[in-house]
Amino acid sequence: MKSPQAIIHLSSSSLISFLFYGLTIRCLTSATVSASYGGNETDYLALLSFKSKITYDPYKVLTSWNHSFHFCDWSGISCGKRHKRVTVLRLISKGLEGSLSPHVGNLSFLRELSLANNSLQGTIPHELVRLSRLRRLYLLVNKFSGVIPANLSGCSNLEDLWLARNKLVGRIPKEVSLLSKLVGLGIYENKLTGGIPPFLGNITSMEVFSAFGNPFGGRIPDTLGLWKSLTVFASGGCNFSGSIPPSIFNLSLLVNLTLAENHLTGSLPSEIGNKLPNLEFLQLWNNNFHGRGEADDMRFVDSLKNCTRLVELVLYNCNLIGVLPISIGNLSDQLIYLNLGDNQLFGSLPSSIGSLVGLTTLHLGQNRFKGKIPTTIGKLQKLQYLGLYRNQFSGPIPDAIGNLSLLNTLSLLSNKFEGHIPPSLGKCKELNSLSLEDNRLSGKIPKELLQLPSLTYFLVLSYNNLSSSIPSEIKDLKMLNILDLSYNNLSGTITSSLGECISLTTLNLRGNRFQGVIPSSFSSLGGLGVLDISENNLSGKIPQFLDKWKSLEYLNLSFNDFEGEVPVVGVFSNASAFSVLGNNRLCGGLVTLELPKCKKKRNSQPSQSSGSERFMKVSYNQLLKATDGFSTTNLIGEGGHSSVYKGIFDPDDDKPVAIKVLHLQNRGAHKSFLAECEAWRNIRHRNLLKIITSCSSVDFQGNDFKALVYEFMPNGSVHDWLHSSANTSKLNFLQRINILRDVATALDYLHNRCQTTIVHGDLKPSNILLDDDMVAHVGDFGLARLLGADLNQNSSTGVKGTIGYAPPEYGIGSEMTSSGDVYSFGILLLEATTGKKPTDDMFNDGLSLHKFAYMALPDHVIDVIDGDAIVLQCTEANENKVEECLAATIKIGVSCSVDSPPQRMKIEIVVNELQRILYVLQNI
Ligand SMILES: *[C@@H]1O[C@H](CO)[C@@H](O)[C@H](O)[C@H]1NC(C)=O
Ligand SMILES: *[C@@H]1O[C@H](CO)[C@@H](O)[C@H](O)[C@H]1NC(C)=O
Ligand SMILES: *[C@@H]1O[C@H](CO)[C@@H](O)[C@H](O)[C@H]1NC(C)=O
Ligand SMILES: *[C@@H]1O[C@H](CO)[C@@H](O)[C@H](O)[C@H]1NC(C)=O
Ligand SMILES: *[C@@H]1O[C@H](CO)[C@@H](O)[C@H](O)[C@H]1NC(C)=O
Ligand SMILES: *[C@@H]1O[C@H](CO)[C@@H](O)[C@H](O)[C@H]1NC(C)=O
Ligand SMILES: *[C@@H]1O[C@H](CO)[C@@H](O)[C@H](O)[C@H]1NC(C)=O
Repeated sequence: MKSPQAIIHLSSSSLISFLFYGLTIRCLTSATVSASYGGNETDYLALLSFKSKITYDPYKVLTSWNHSFHFCDWSGISCGKRHKRVTVLRLISKGLEGSLSPHVGNLSFLRELSLANNSLQGTIPHELVRLSRLRRLYLLVNKFSGVIPANLSGCSNLEDLWLARNKLVGRIPKEVSLLSKLVGLGIYENKLTGGIPPFLGNITSMEVFSAFGNPFGGRIPDTLGLWKSLTVFASGGCNFSGSIPPSIFNLSLLVNLTLAENHLTGSLPSEIGNKLPNLEFLQLWNNNFHGRGEADDMRFVDSLKNCTRLVELVLYNCNLIGVLPISIGNLSDQLIYLNLGDNQLFGSLPSSIGSLVGLTTLHLGQNRFKGKIPTTIGKLQKLQYLGLYRNQFSGPIPDAIGNLSLLNTLSLLSNKFEGHIPPSLGKCKELNSLSLEDNRLSGKIPKELLQLPSLTYFLVLSYNNLSSSIPSEIKDLKMLNILDLSYNNLSGTITSSLGECISLTTLNLRGNRFQGVIPSSFSSLGGLGVLDISENNLSGKIPQFLDKWKSLEYLNLSFNDFEGEVPVVGVFSNASAFSVLGNNRLCGGLVTLELPKCKKKRNSQPSQSSGSERFMKVSYNQLLKATDGFSTTNLIGEGGHSSVYKGIFDPDDDKPVAIKVLHLQNRGAHKSFLAECEAWRNIRHRNLLKIITSCSSVDFQGNDFKALVYEFMPNGSVHDWLHSSANTSKLNFLQRINILRDVATALDYLHNRCQTTIVHGDLKPSNILLDDDMVAHVGDFGLARLLGADLNQNSSTGVKGTIGYAPPEYGIGSEMTSSGDVYSFGILLLEATTGKKPTDDMFNDGLSLHKFAYMALPDHVIDVIDGDAIVLQCTEANENKVEECLAATIKIGVSCSVDSPPQRMKIEIVVNELQRILYVLQNI
């Protein structure tokens, strides 16, 4: 469902780009030259003053502002040809920080001042009012605060005044009305108050007025009807009340009328389309227009056929009462977006709707429509969103919806649809969200629907009358998040293939007639937050894996026939997070459950279902060949649980791979293999080492054999680069920061951008590998743990990380967490920049790598940096910048490696900060 919020974003951003576009065109028609004056010195000093107030200039646009050139040749400056006075100062989107010097008011020949999209702050200096030749003032998208300068009438030639997206407060000053040449006034997204003053109507030259997103309040003055040339009137979210004055509908050149999100009342004139034939955008949602009494509010639609260029019609939540006229089909074939949701429209949906072949969004949800959906809906070939929910539609869901090959969201919930779910929906190859709940649908769930890998957000079929079992094709929904089949008439055993829907976060099967046990394949659904299988006829024991799931917040097993012991850990330790009511054969559990005690008996270990079968792709034999019998000449690394070999599968294409063979006799190796398979299965990222395949087999002696095959990294590990004497060339500082940025990006991905949080658990230089282009790839997920799916079951005795890199809390038995990874990253950063291992002999007696780096801050960083790293060109001019970068880098490492986990820097901030440092370094 598209929320109103989403619609706000859509409309305002398209408006902004529209306005920016207008701005660029205008800028190109440059100024002409006028009479010659002295005063070059004045301009020069004013520009130097401008420069002196800029505190940050990331693109170095102001370096050209130096003695070597006349100021007319400085970047962003244009001068009159003869008089050599500054006519244009234009620095758009240059990332500038600082304030705007009042001395800009001395540039008395200035015609254009364009500083849009920077980060300037402070007030807008009132000295600007002295710029009597100024035509274009663009200060939009900055951080200016305070009021709009009064007495702007001094700028009597102003044509464009754009102060939008700042933090301006107060009223629109009266003198603005004296700007008799103004054609564009853009003040949107500030904090202006005091209403739209009626005197603005005196600016009859106005063409674009954009004031949305200010808490103005008051009524729309009817004097604005004097703006005969107006094409854009955008004043959504301005807290207006009262009705739209009739004079506004006299502005026949209007292209965009946006007054959404106000408290406007009254009715829309039935001749609106005749009076405003140029309309392309009519956006009035979230108002309260019903005012016609007994008559039909929708009559105005007839006249809209006159608007032959209409693109968007958005009247969501306007309290409109009436029927949708057949003439809806006569609207422009350019119409893309039609949203009449959340009104009180009744009657049937006219089949003429099929004529609107340009539509991508059709939203008629939350009305009182009745009858069948016309099959002509199948003609809307461009449709991506169809929302007809919460109406009283009946009859079948038309097969023709299958014709909508671009449809991504179909929401038909809470109607009276009956019959089968049409298998033709399987042709909607882009469908990612389908909600059909609360209808009268019957029959089987069509398997075609389950074979849509695009279904990723939700599939909700609850509260219908669907029967039979869940088709095994459900396994194809590998990316689906929410599956709700509750309150139907489904029966049979729960198909084990549901266990392959590994992305599920919510699974609801409540209120059906399922029987049998919970399939053991459910053990791979560790990402679930909600599992509700209550009100069925399920039996057997409560599976052991349920109490291990870390993200499970709610578990409902009630009203089934489960037996045996209720666990007391995990989700079962919190009485409000689960329910086992109405299962008469359960015992044990929390005392509050008041269940009988269980009799002690040793039951046999449940068979371990392995999630790793899917990886069995290469044979032991193939690996043996590829590594020349695992010969030591091919051995490229050895760790606690494994040995790594370089191998070549196909002698004709000698692309090498890295083969990691697990030492299965070592405690933990098997778990480590499972952990790694599980972690890799779910993730893919440019800075993570790519797994190619795996092998799970027996060797020739009949012993278990497990191996993972990765892409080969020709440039070895960061550990080798930092410490191996074999590497004669060294990494320079820029390369090191690049590598650290890559690693931080990979961690950010693992922690924040996967389905479930993945903790690496053993970050260290030997696990960071470099490809041909020195791009870093994080490898070795031997200890990785998916939060929510505990792979190191019973791992309290297991190894956690590596000494020196593991955070102090792991030593006292804490769980592995993402902030533990951040600690390891901090140490890695300090090692990469100082060249010192955390286990170096010098670190004893209370001195650690962290402390060593900390003590060098802020002024002695240069003393601790690895001498080999500094090959940057240090000149007197850039020395400060270089030192700042070194200090900023060390600071990150220190902040990441503090003892207290909550105080460690967030990895996403680390990424940004390193990115910034890289930027500065690359531009020195
Ligand atoms: C700008 O003009 C004012 C008044 O004429 C003068 O006091 C000031 O010094 C000038 N600023 C610069 C930077 O020349
Ligand atoms: C002056 O500006 C030019 C052009 O950007 C630049 O190449 C030069 O390095 C600058 N000189 C100084 C001293 O900054
Ligand atoms: C605007 O024009 C009206 C006449 O239409 C005049 O009475 C009023 O004073 C003007 N307002 C301003 C602020 O100039
Ligand atoms: C709209 O324009 C017409 C024709 O110019 C005029 O007669 C009418 O009074 C105007 N209506 C309003 C409300 O300004
Ligand atoms: C639009 O409406 C006006 C006024 O009713 C009419 O004169 C004009 O012909 C109409 N244009 C179209 C394209 O229908
Ligand atoms: C309106 O559309 C209908 C078909 O839906 C068509 O028959 C009729 O001619 C159209 N009217 C106009 C004025 O375009
Ligand atoms: C749906 O598509 C089929 C073939 O692509 C076509 O024959 C049929 O007319 C279409 N139905 C509708 C209602 O557009």
